[in-house]
Amino acid sequence: MMDHVVLTGDRPTGPLHLGHYFGTLANRVALQDVHPMYVLVADYQVITDRDLPGAIQQNITSLVLDYLAIGLDPAKVTIFQHSAIPELNQLLLPFLSLVSVAELSRNPTVKDEIAHSTQQAVNGLMFTYPVHQAADILFCKGTLVPVGKDQLPHVEVTRLVARRFNERYGPVFPVPEAMMGARPLLHGLGGGKMSKSRGNAIALSATEDETAALIRAARTDSERLITFDEANRPEVANLLTLAGLCLGRAPESIVDEIGNGGASTLKRLVTEAVNEFLRPMRKRRLEHSAADARQVLTDGNERARERAIVTLGEVRAAMGF
Ligand code: TRP
Repeated sequence: MMDHVVLTGDRPTGPLHLGHYFGTLANRVALQDVHPMYVLVADYQVITDRDLPGAIQQNITSLVLDYLAIGLDPAKVTIFQHSAIPELNQLLLPFLSLVSVAELSRNPTVKDEIAHSTQQAVNGLMFTYPVHQAADILFCKGTLVPVGKDQLPHVEVTRLVARRFNERYGPVFPVPEAMMGARPLLHGLGGGKMSKSRGNAIALSATEDETAALIRAARTDSERLITFDEANRPEVANLLTLAGLCLGRAPESIVDEIGNGGASTLKRLVTEAVNEFLRPMRKRRLEHSAADARQVLTDGNERARERAIVTLGEVRAAMGF
């Protein structure tokens, strides 16, 4: 097996949900036993599509508690934050010189975020954060980046930066690969992408009752016979997909248990499946306090910073600074 270094991360803008879990978090939990891994709390990235960081400390703490709840083990994984590693910002400068303005402007994820932004004006960080993200990945010489589909353009930027740096200044960086979740895409409970801001997401921190209420309110249709038909009954199919993911079964195999039971039987089954699935996470969450989360970051920040100082030294030497 190849000796990978895994790096990935999240913006601390709100609770992680089941879409995140099946899209990328499940991969991390599996990888932590196999490779060295860094998980980044991308706090500086919060101010790309909004003017103010908001309840940033609270969001950082709850993100780390989400990590602990899903079973990331800080003894194996270095969990750290952008704002604690000034060397990332120093890597950003030479990296920015390696990409053209045209390349920055045609990033499809950036374009999409601009389209959904509520800001008066698009700020400079919106165009440059993917290069900062290259620094996130390359400071630890990351080779494998577990991410959702929306992050693929950023991994491409990282690959470009690594290759161009090596061409110009000599071999310093590996060229990393993205790793996508193998699971089927989970939509929000009312259709569309599962997203906290669209109110259609089941947070990993949701209580049993909150979970039941969200599923009860999910859109379905009035046909009694439940079938798995993604094209014609997307909402019902999505609920079956969700239950299937939680039960570790194919969604098609669940319909027989529901038969002519209609939406209410379907929703009862989905609610039980989700609550059963989230039970161990809820239990682990209760085992950790906000103080634990802060300690995890203090330790992780120190380890990540040591690594970043070494890489920045190599970069400066290669460039002749
Ligand atoms: N952009 C990612 C998000 O929106 C967070 C992130 C920052 C990241 N740096 C990264 C992901 C490096 C993977 C690798 O959640």
